[in-house]
Amino acid sequence: MVTIRKSHPKDAKKASKLMFDAMDWLGNLFQFNSLKSTRLIEKLYLKPNTRFSHEHTHVVEIDGEVAGILTTAAGSKLDRFNLSAALNSVSFLGFKTIKNVLKHAGPLLKTKEALADEYYITTLSVDSKFRGKGIGTKLLDLAEQLAIDNGYLKCSLTVDASNEKARRLYNQLGYVEQHQYKLMHYTFVRMVKPL
Ligand SMILES: CC(C)(COP(=O)(O)OP(=O)(O)OC[C@H]1O[C@@H](n2cnc3c(N)ncnc32)[C@H](O)[C@@H]1OP(=O)(O)O)[C@@H](O)C(=O)NCCC(=O)NCCS
Repeated sequence: MVTIRKSHPKDAKKASKLMFDAMDWLGNLFQFNSLKSTRLIEKLYLKPNTRFSHEHTHVVEIDGEVAGILTTAAGSKLDRFNLSAALNSVSFLGFKTIKNVLKHAGPLLKTKEALADEYYITTLSVDSKFRGKGIGTKLLDLAEQLAIDNGYLKCSLTVDASNEKARRLYNQLGYVEQHQYKLMHYTFVRMVKPL
């Protein structure tokens, strides 16, 4: 049976793994391996008001297993959620991380992921064994419904330019490329869909 529900703290392990699958660049920024990155995301998932928080996350469950996740944020709140995530990460960060984050501080501070009038899809991720079955599409439909319910006329997201699968899906569903920006060796594409 397929159900969509709000996520709970008890989903933390699976949700943080899925979140890392969607933003493995974070490991490169923080110079963490996947295990340490996932642990940090798990910690932030359990805290309120970070971009990873369970309170902003929905999950698709198939026969009792979490198959995919969607995390969203009002565009106007994203900077606050990012700051809260950064502050809650401090105890995790060593010299190597701080040095690398400072090295990329310019593009990090300049980057505007979402505008105030957009409902932002912070993370979309589907477990590899459940991909290609319409779950990603279902979660994007949910994001658009949440946007409308909250009075927004646009959904937006950012995707790694090399993630062809995700970009194709977003294009098919009406997301339009706005501009690209660089962070480390990655190029990211900002996309917006009018609702
Ligand atoms: C991108 C991602 C979320 C897509 O999730 P998904 O559940 O596979 O998405 P869907 O199944 O809705 O769509 C994928 C494809 O399957 C097709 N499809 C949808 N429902 C289908 C069905 N019932 N039967 C067969 N194919 C179907 C879609 O048309 C789409 O086709 P395309 O490859 O030609 O574009 C998933 O690949 C993922 O989690 N990737 C890793 C994390 C990631 O990159 N996240 C995005 C970061 S921005």
